[in-house]
Formats: sequence, C-alpha cells, structure tokens
Amino acid sequence: MKTWLITGCSSGFGQRLALAAAQRGDRVIATARNVTTIEEMAAPFAGRMITLPLDVTDAAAAKAVVAKAVETFGGFDVLVNNAGYGLFGAIEEGTPEEYRAMFEVNVFGLIETTRAALPVLRRSGGTIVNMSSGAGIEGRGGGGYYHAAKFAVEGISEALAGELKPFGIRVLIVEPGPFRTEFLGRSITMVANEMPEYAASSRRLYRESNNGNQSGDPDRAVAVILKAVDAEDAPLHLPLGPAAHAIAERKLAAFRSDIDAWRDITIATDFDRP
Ligand SMILES: NC(=O)c1ccc[n+]([C@@H]2O[C@H](COP(=O)([O-])OP(=O)(O)OC[C@H]3O[C@@H](n4cnc5c(N)ncnc54)[C@H](OP(=O)(O)O)[C@@H]3O)[C@@H](O)[C@H]2O)c1
Repeated sequence: MKTWLITGCSSGFGQRLALAAAQRGDRVIATARNVTTIEEMAAPFAGRMITLPLDVTDAAAAKAVVAKAVETFGGFDVLVNNAGYGLFGAIEEGTPEEYRAMFEVNVFGLIETTRAALPVLRRSGGTIVNMSSGAGIEGRGGGGYYHAAKFAVEGISEALAGELKPFGIRVLIVEPGPFRTEFLGRSITMVANEMPEYAASSRRLYRESNNGNQSGDPDRAVAVILKAVDAEDAPLHLPLGPAAHAIAERKLAAFRSDIDAWRDITIATDFDRP
C-alpha cells in the first residue's frame, strides 16, 4: 500500500489520481486551495483519504500538510506536484504581475512543496511525480512563460533525480500533451495586454479551438502514472499521449540537427593544450 500526497486535487489529473489511488486501496493526502472542493470526493474513503488545504504558494502551509500527513499516516511515499496553470501570450505582452504569479505556483510552489516533503521522503524512500508538460520539452511562440516554467520543472526534476537517488527516491517527470481536464478552460490565463503585433502567435486561438476536444483521456493518463509509480524501471521522462511523443521526437531531431550543424566551430573553444 502506498501513501500519496497530491497537490491541486480539485479537478483534472490531481482529482483523478487521488481517486484512482484511493480506489485501489492506497492512502491519499489530497490537497486543494479550497478544501471544500475535495471533501465530497474523500467521503467514501474515510480513514484512507484525508483532505487538507494547500495553496502551493504558501510554504508554511506545505509544511503543515506534511506534519499532518506524518501525524495521520506516519508519512507518505509518493509526492505528486500537480498544481499548475498556464499563462499564454508573447513575452513582450506579459507583465511581471502575470508571469511572476505563474512562476510562484508552477515553479516556486513545486520547490517549496518538495522541500517540505523531503525530510519525510528521505526517511521512507519513494517517488516524486512532477507534472511538467509537452510544453516543458519544446518552446513555441506565444507560450514562452508557461514553457519557461515547465522547463524549470524539468531542470529541477533532473537535478532532484541525481540528488535523491542515494535516498531511494525516484523522480518521474510527466509530460502530457493535451488532455481533457479543466486546464484549457479555467486554468489558462491570457496576458491582459495583448498587442496586435503578436496576434499571429497568440495562444487564444489554440485555446478556443481545442477546449473540450483535447485528444487525451485523463483517466488513461492517470493509469500510466500509477503504472510508472509501481514499476521499478520506469524512465525519468514520461511524455504522455501521441502529441507529447511527437513534440519529443521533433525536439530531439531539431536538437540533433543544431548540435551537428556547427559542431566543428562550437567545439573549438577550449584553451590550446601545451
Ligand atoms: N491538461 C493538459 O492538457 C495538461 C497538459 C500538460 C500539462 N498539464 C499540467 O497538469 C497539471 C494539472 O492540470 P490539469 O490538466 O489537471 O488542469 P486542471 O483540471 O485545471 O487542474 C489544475 C489544478 O491546479 C490547481 N491549482 C492552481 N493553482 C494552485 C495553487 N496556487 N495551489 C494549489 N493548487 C492550485 C487547481 O486548483 P483550484 O481549483 O484551486 O484552481 C486545480 O486543482 C498542471 O501542472 C498542468 O500544467 C496539463
């Protein structure tokens, strides 16, 4: 039996993951900014699922959640940093209030939750699941701030994987393509100051044309995450869905092409050896 601590359980992946874990008999510390949104979900799992308030931008609240998890279940062995939202618009269009607020959730919130959890996880070992995105693999015009945040999640996760291996803690970086959650609805923020110069690269069209029609089934995504958490040999990177795989293949090919194209020029930068 595993014990999960999951952020952002009010909808989408977080909610489904909490339910799927509880339904198979695991224990769950489900958290949400507004805890009343998850109480009904937890009701059938009394004694195995507890609900706690957690806005991931509140580092003290993350510590309180960890303390309560230890008090209730003696700890946990899977941390899922799931909470997040998107900010779309060109880099020049964004304001510090917009992009700093998004980094507070998607990046610093993940860091603070992880830092709060690590003293417990280092004792038990286990798995950290960090929700990145296909947007954490490849950057495209109109999504720069969200890409930057998810690229940060990737870098933090890769570093953690190395740092935490000696403690028996694995890291899984989940990189979904478009999945039918609330993400493209209420979890997308558009920059307020849209500039006509960037109309062609605006993400607005992307949202309007895809919300409700995303090809990915979040329940199938959650089944893959459960399988990866259970597997001894799951890879660090888990691109989820065909769209994410296409992004990863495209990125690898473009990166390969770039590093090969100027190899002779760009490797000629070391001091001459005597
Ligand atoms: N669905 C996709 O296509 C997709 C693709 C790639 C990556 N992702 C990633 O998957 C993760 C989950 O998103 P989702 O698709 O499940 O969308 P979702 O249904 O909109 O869920 C987002 C969750 O994040 C929570 N959240 C936002 N800000 C928070 C904060 N400050 N503290 C705590 N919780 C907060 C929301 O809670 P509230 O109810 O309090 O707002 C909600 O529970 C995100 O990290 C997202 O970037 C999604």
